[in-house]
Amino acid sequence: MIKITIATSNPHKLEEINAINKNPEIVFDVIKGDFNPDENGKTFEDNALIKAKEAAKTAKTYCLADDSGLCVDSLEGRPGIYSSRYEKTPEKRIEKLLNEMKGLPFDDRSANFTCAMVLVDKDGNILHRETGKIFGYIDDRAKGKNGFGYDPIFYLSEYDKTMAELDEKEKNKISHRANALRPMIEWIENTLM
Ligand code: IMP
Repeated sequence: MIKITIATSNPHKLEEINAINKNPEIVFDVIKGDFNPDENGKTFEDNALIKAKEAAKTAKTYCLADDSGLCVDSLEGRPGIYSSRYEKTPEKRIEKLLNEMKGLPFDDRSANFTCAMVLVDKDGNILHRETGKIFGYIDDRAKGKNGFGYDPIFYLSEYDKTMAELDEKEKNKISHRANALRPMIEWIENTLM
C-alpha cells in the first residue's frame, strides 16, 4: 500500500480524486487543518510545485498537488492561473468573462481547462509531473447546476452541454484533473509499487 497526501485541505478534491482512482492500494488523504501556501508562481506547474513542497514539510509522505484553471484562447490564456482570483465570487468571475467575450463568434470562443499535477517525495523532491486538459468553448450564458467555478459556461460540443450540465460521474471521466491523474496513477503503479 502507498499513502499519498494531497496538498489541499479541501475534502471535495479528495472525493474527486478517490472517484478517479481505481487502485485500492493507493490511499489518498488530505492535509489536516489550514493549508494556504502563497501561490505566487507564474505557471500552473510552478504553483502545483509550491503546494506539493509545502505539504511535504508537514505530511512527511509522498505528496500530490494540482493547480488548475480556465484558459481562453482569444484572451491570450486568461484567466489562467488567476482563475480563482479573477473576481470576488464565482458568479462575478463568470459575468466578467462573458462581458469580455461579448459578441465574439463561436469559433473565437475556444478554451481549455488545464490541470498541472506534481508528485514529490517526503523531502519535497520532484518525482513526476503530468498535465491534463479538456477542450471546449465559452458559452454566451451560464447553464447547468452541477460542478463549480466556470463549469456553467464551459460548453462541450460533443455532448451539446456545458460542464455544469454533466453529472459528476461523467465529468470525472473526461475532466482535466482526470486526464492528469490517470497517467499519474499509472506512473505511481509502474514506478513506486
Ligand atoms: P484549483 O487549482 O483546482 O483550486 O482551481 C483554481 C480555479 O480554477 C478554481 O477556483 C476555478 O475557478 C477554476 N477551475 C479549476 N478546475 C475547474 C473545474 O473543473 N471547473 C470549473 N472551474 C475550475
